[in-house]
Amino acid sequence: MSSQYENVTAQLRAEPRTWLVTGCAGFIGSNLLESLLKLDQNVVGLDNFATGYQRNFDEVQALVTPEQWARFRFIEGDIRDAEACASACAGVDFVLHQAALGSVPRSLKDPVTTNAVNIGGFLNMLVAARDADVKSFVYAASSSTYGDHPALPKIEENIGKPLSPYAVTKYVNELYGDVFARAYGFGSIGLRYFNVFGKRQDPNGAYAAVIPKWIAAMIRGEDVVVNGDGETSRDFCFVENAVQANILAALAQPEGVNQVYNVAVNARTSLNELFAHLADQLGRHGVQYDKQPVYAEFRSGDVRHSQADIDKARNLLGYEPKHDILRGLEVAMPWYTQFLR
Ligand SMILES: NC(=O)c1ccc[n+]([C@@H]2O[C@H](COP(=O)([O-])OP(=O)(O)OC[C@H]3O[C@@H](n4cnc5c(N)ncnc54)[C@H](O)[C@@H]3O)[C@@H](O)[C@H]2O)c1
Repeated sequence: MSSQYENVTAQLRAEPRTWLVTGCAGFIGSNLLESLLKLDQNVVGLDNFATGYQRNFDEVQALVTPEQWARFRFIEGDIRDAEACASACAGVDFVLHQAALGSVPRSLKDPVTTNAVNIGGFLNMLVAARDADVKSFVYAASSSTYGDHPALPKIEENIGKPLSPYAVTKYVNELYGDVFARAYGFGSIGLRYFNVFGKRQDPNGAYAAVIPKWIAAMIRGEDVVVNGDGETSRDFCFVENAVQANILAALAQPEGVNQVYNVAVNARTSLNELFAHLADQLGRHGVQYDKQPVYAEFRSGDVRHSQADIDKARNLLGYEPKHDILRGLEVAMPWYTQFLR
């Protein structure tokens, strides 16, 4: 029996649609762009290059055919600009809203800018999508919304208090999504990503995510710094699982709309285990790393443990993650070893 994802992608290939991907120059956005172009879809992109790169477009262009690349139209613009949002939404069927300022530490350092982009920009996008009468609006929510709620695995309706300004912004997105359904009958779907990783995730800068940051350090023979005792754990989610969730959500049945979903694997890997996996997989790609990790202070705003229950996405969207952390690392390793040197 074919999976829901196979059915949906076959349907899209047979009848191509027009998608808006905001944040398309970033990590998850450029992976969405690549997958949609490979499905022969028309894609409009909106990004201001705050944390995204032209090089991500160059990479995607090299991975698709010239005909597929010609179906991409890019608008350089800022989601804090309502007009840019409105012109990006014109004529679009499905919106995948990814643009935001990520990172808990960035939000602790500069809560005002994170708020302006992640809440003000989000609201502009909701209004623009509603006014353009798009068929669906899917947005990047976050596992940080679970905050200080101790239960594991995380179930969508049980959340705690946010532990960072970033978490506040992502929760407010959900509140706005809900209110737009009640007040205007405009439904949306929030995808609470859990630590997504894969190709084109930025390894550089103060706010880099742990996997590309550690791999880059290992390749350069530098110290790997662990925040805390290394027993902090995460449900690491390979980016192709997140792409699948987005495409399924965009085409969800009415009962699946106006909901939020965990997007992860339902597994838990400690930072110490992650360190061992990375050293092992790099070793198999010709990179020997023999140093021990360096343990530092715990980072403020970080949740201690995280693991998602994914039954809701499974039942209402037909989501079936194809990659656990090891399989995801295996698929991404050639990219890491080529691009993070
Ligand atoms: N990567 C993860 O593990 C993770 C986890 C939870 C949630 N998320 C969310 O997923 C989304 C994508 O994250 P990512 O990891 O790909 O990050 P990213 O930084 O690689 O991508 C974000 C993109 O948004 C763009 N952007 C930022 N501000 C903008 C603005 N004002 N106007 C237009 N574009 C703007 C950036 O230039 C960048 O290309 C974000 O909403 C993030 O909060 C990511």
